[in-house]
Amino acid sequence: MAVIIDGKAVASEKRREIKNRVENLKSEGKTVGLAVIIVGENPASRVYVNNKKKGCAEVGIDSFEYALPQSTTENELRELVKKLNNDERVNGILCQLPLPEHINEDAVINTISPKKDVDAFHPQNVGHIMIGDYTFLPCTPAGIMEMLKFYNIAVSGKKCVVIGRSNIVGKPMAMLLLKENGTVEICHSRTADLKKETLSADILVAAVGKAKFVTEDMVKEGAVVIDVGMNRDENGKLCGDVDFEKVEKKASFITPVPGGVGPMTITMLLENTVRAVE
Ligand code: GUN
Repeated sequence: MAVIIDGKAVASEKRREIKNRVENLKSEGKTVGLAVIIVGENPASRVYVNNKKKGCAEVGIDSFEYALPQSTTENELRELVKKLNNDERVNGILCQLPLPEHINEDAVINTISPKKDVDAFHPQNVGHIMIGDYTFLPCTPAGIMEMLKFYNIAVSGKKCVVIGRSNIVGKPMAMLLLKENGTVEICHSRTADLKKETLSADILVAAVGKAKFVTEDMVKEGAVVIDVGMNRDENGKLCGDVDFEKVEKKASFITPVPGGVGPMTITMLLENTVRAVE
């Protein structure tokens, strides 16, 4: 049976440290503020945004929510971002994705000042990540690295397989594992023999977006399994990309959903917001 990685516990310890840093900044007369933009009525986005605001309150960061209607134009949204770029109360700007289809996400991300880009989505910050210079950390991958460190799971020399090649998770995850000297492979929907690849993984990261996609026959005995998924199963219950009950019996460490990667992602967003001020 695997050790279940407690993302909430790791997040809670990290948030204590962040709270102290916020207090120190406040004692120097500085404020720490995060603008959170949500467009439309995506229920999952609403949950994420609420949790991000709750996280801010927990560590003393001021959050400013901008909830815009579905009909918002790309231009209107970019005008808001420009205004926030120049707002002194706002140190970080987060625009919750996905945006409605009529809005070009890249155009919006490119409008965010790289100095306030606490998601690390701006091409300038993505470039920093590629060369191993971390002004802002990519939140989900950085949260995963913190969890591995907390549980003393070494990455150096390990075969790391990431399933998913998104700009938000898959690609930056590969970069962080590589920086820690892992031997890294990215798999995706066109990978010829996915099972063959995943069976070679000492550390397996699933960022697919499909409920219980990773089954026990795809996992090597004793592997570390990190589940980035947030899905609903056939009964409407929250579940990850990994078939937890079965894979848990084979893995050495595994993250649950919920209570694994999710709390850490938000924690790293808070960390980036503090960094923006520091
Ligand atoms: N949508 C899903 N994950 C994220 C994230 O980390 N940041 C933003 N802005 N949107 C998301």
